[in-house]
This record gives sequence, structure tokens and C-alpha cells, in this order.
Amino acid sequence: MPHAIISPSVLASDFGQLTAECKRMIKNGADWLHMDVMDGHFVPNITMGAPILTCVKKGVPDIFMDCHMMVAQPEKWVDDIAAAGGALYCFHLEATSDPLALIDVIHGKKMKAGVAISPDTPSSAITDQVANAADMLLVMTVYPGRGGQKFLDRCLPKVADLRARFPEKDIEVDGGVGPSTIDACAHAGSNVIVAGTAIFNAPDPEQVITLLKATVNT
Ligand code: DX5
Ligand code: ZN
Repeated sequence: MPHAIISPSVLASDFGQLTAECKRMIKNGADWLHMDVMDGHFVPNITMGAPILTCVKKGVPDIFMDCHMMVAQPEKWVDDIAAAGGALYCFHLEATSDPLALIDVIHGKKMKAGVAISPDTPSSAITDQVANAADMLLVMTVYPGRGGQKFLDRCLPKVADLRARFPEKDIEVDGGVGPSTIDACAHAGSNVIVAGTAIFNAPDPEQVITLLKATVNT
């Protein structure tokens, strides 16, 4: 299994201090920062888009922005997110009819490409061809749209299925992940760990990040 990557979700941060919050997380051991882009269509909420990511990248140039695109038209935002400094563009399989073409466009913009599935989408919807073309697969462990929800362990068999099919692929879990659920995620085979409230609300984020990382790596 690939090594652990910890990607704190800034959705749980103080947006008024976003740059400082990202710096704080990197200091505490974060590998990536998970940027939840919501458009009010694919999900009911609106969060942030390319203009904010541009500011974050300017303030924290060495950041790896893991952009989780909860948007209805993922084709539409590739150029803007690339220009803003996005490192990984993860779109929802449910939102596109041509994932392979979209992965090509993302790679053409020199970003890594991720493919996300919501809780009701089976792992079999990710074909071998799509998975092999993508750099990362994201199995949502809550319904996308907001932070602080309860972890859905019924999504874990999908992680296990994808890990069995793609032993070397980065597999991310997102939603309700923290110290009490990381064992199950690691056991199922995920190595890219998103956690929002569990890290940002912790009195000692470094301790949580270290624990998550160690659990995946052992
Ligand atoms: C949910 C987002 C998640 C969310 C995770 O739609 O995609 O990234 O911020 O937050 P927690 O870890 O609090 O569930
Ligand atoms: Zn997310």
C-alpha cells in the first residue's frame, strides 16, 4: 500500500484566517491541504473557488492543494483551478459523462486527477480504465456537502474493493474520519486521509495528524 498522506480539510478552519490556518497545519505535519470547493448545485452549500485558492497559494507557496470539486460541471473549472495553483483536481464521477476525457484535460493542465464517488455510488462504477488513468480515487464516507457528519462505515467495502483492484493507487477517504475511525479506514486500504473537524477542533492537531499517519503506515 502507498504511504500515508494526511490532508486536513480547511472546511473546518477559520475562513477569515485561511492562509494562517494552512500554515498552521503544515507546521503540525499536514502533507496536503484539502480544499472543499462547493458550487450550490452539486451540493446545496457554497464554499470557495479559484479566487480564494489563488490567495492561499500566494500566501503559502509550497502548499499542495488537494481540490475536492463538489461541483455540477467539473469540466468548467479545470483552467481556473490550475491557474490558482491547484495540485490535484478531484471531480465526482456522478457529475460527468466522460471521466476519461476530463482526466486528460486535468493532466493537460499539469494537475493530478482524482475521481470521487459519493456514498450511493458503487465502486464498480469506477472502471479499470478510469482508475488506471486517475492518480487518486476518493471514497466519500459521508454525503458530500458539509463537515462534521457521522462516518458511514458501510462505505468501507468500496475502499477494500478498490485497494484489491489497484494495489498501488492513492485511495482517499473523506468524511467523519478521525482517531475513532482511522483504524477501519487503514484496514480497508485507504492511504490518503482527509479529516476536518477531527484535526481543526483538536486541542493538539499535531498529535491527531501523527496518530492518523502512524495508523496508516503500520
Ligand atoms: C464534506 C467534505 C469533507 C469535510 C470533512 O462534503 O468533502 O472534506 O470537510 O469534514 P469532517 O472531517 O469534519 O467530516
Ligand atoms: Zn472533501
